[in-house]
Amino acid sequence: FMLSSVDIFLPIILTFSFGRIAAPTLTAANNGIVSAATAPLKFGINYGQIANNLPHPAQVSGLLRSLNVNRVKLYDADPAVLTAFAGTGVEFTISNGDLLNMSDARNARAWVAQNVQPFLPDTRITCVILGNEVLSGTDASAMQSLLPAMQAVHQALVDLGLDDQVNVSTSQSVNVLASSYPPSAGAFREDLAQYMRPLLDFLAELGSPFLINAYPFFAYKASPGSVSLPYVLFEPNPGAHDPGTNLTYDNMLYAQIDAVYAAMEAMGHKDIAVRISETGWPSAGDADEVGATVQNAATYNGNLMKRVAAGQGTPLRPDVPVDVLVFALFNENMKQGQASERNYGLFYPNGTSVYDLGFGGASFGPSSPTASGFSSSSKPTVEKLHSKYFERLRRTV
Ligand SMILES: *[C@@H]1O[C@H](CO)[C@@H](O)[C@H](O)[C@H]1NC(C)=O
Ligand SMILES: *[C@@H]1O[C@H](CO)[C@@H](O)[C@H](O)[C@H]1NC(C)=O
Ligand SMILES: *[C@@H]1O[C@H](CO)[C@@H](O)[C@H](O)[C@H]1NC(C)=O
Ligand SMILES: *[C@@H]1O[C@H](CO)[C@@H](O)[C@H](O)[C@H]1NC(C)=O
Repeated sequence: FMLSSVDIFLPIILTFSFGRIAAPTLTAANNGIVSAATAPLKFGINYGQIANNLPHPAQVSGLLRSLNVNRVKLYDADPAVLTAFAGTGVEFTISNGDLLNMSDARNARAWVAQNVQPFLPDTRITCVILGNEVLSGTDASAMQSLLPAMQAVHQALVDLGLDDQVNVSTSQSVNVLASSYPPSAGAFREDLAQYMRPLLDFLAELGSPFLINAYPFFAYKASPGSVSLPYVLFEPNPGAHDPGTNLTYDNMLYAQIDAVYAAMEAMGHKDIAVRISETGWPSAGDADEVGATVQNAATYNGNLMKRVAAGQGTPLRPDVPVDVLVFALFNENMKQGQASERNYGLFYPNGTSVYDLGFGGASFGPSSPTASGFSSSSKPTVEKLHSKYFERLRRTV
């Protein structure tokens, strides 16, 4: 994990006041039937499954409907999930990390025919992500296969007449940036330019967004003494001035998004939207993981949800509402690494919320057989074990 020192730079001179934004309505009716007046939440959620105690997808479908969450990302294309959400209107982003295989046109076609086509239109699959954080990793074969895999999957969607309904993209860590502060100086790592240029050209050609995984938690954890907690938690703070644009940033996530816009612009692209494919904050961690607390997690996700609900853009792109998939739906007990890795969930596997985000007493929804909680599903399926290798560890600093 390369934390650029610029991320932790925090000017204290400017005063920045952030007006209060009305809280979105998150509370579902107690009986699990969402009131017609409840607007869909504007944020989506990552449904990771590296666990052996998660509820059945039909129960998860009920839970998400009771919360009015209408966008979900999977780390695979789990048919049990896609089937359970048929007819719900929930929008799915699904993933395929088998890049070398997908770079072959016949395999890509077979995969789309088997994992995407049969579920449309009952289950709304709107995006396929190829690879997760591949360019900041160490797998050279995956890096080289990334664009060919995206191209082959897109071509398969075209051939099957699905490309109007389904985007193709890839999610990358903010660590693909060599510099991220001030945001106007955002630049991709030089050694990745050979991959980034053709990748951006392709995304622009498709009109697809560039997806990033961004965790201000890591910056805080690495340097709790110099990174301002209010700045990373969207709490009132003096803000950081960008001398390159004279814009002021009151939180690190928006600064990271705008750094990606600047990096893309430096490669000639002002025509690609940036979206957040993962962000979140752990509610618990090891003793040396400073900041991993229930209170900070509730503050980070709660404040972020309010901003997303208000349709707020970043300082550089004020008219483009920040688009977020929160990580994650459940605590995942089989994730490796430090304790924080297993504690990103908004919910315990039994359906109880880890902290109050305004969800109140979350309802289990009409699909649930009981109102007292979820029962555990059996052993992880092959799909889940496969995704275990795909859903990357949010590496410790
Ligand atoms: C490659 O992908 C195809 C289509 O999904 C699949 O049938 C095949 O098993 C994959 N090959 C390997 C080696 O994983
Ligand atoms: C594909 O991405 C573009 C750009 O973000 C967006 O306008 C479009 O609605 C997306 N298509 C689908 C099916 O989500
Ligand atoms: C920022 O504001 C200062 C003071 O008003 C001005 O001198 C400078 O040219 C501005 N910079 C940009 C990039 O607009
Ligand atoms: C759900 O699990 C959490 C964490 O293990 C526990 O604290 C809570 O009491 C459980 N809730 C129910 C309703 O069983």
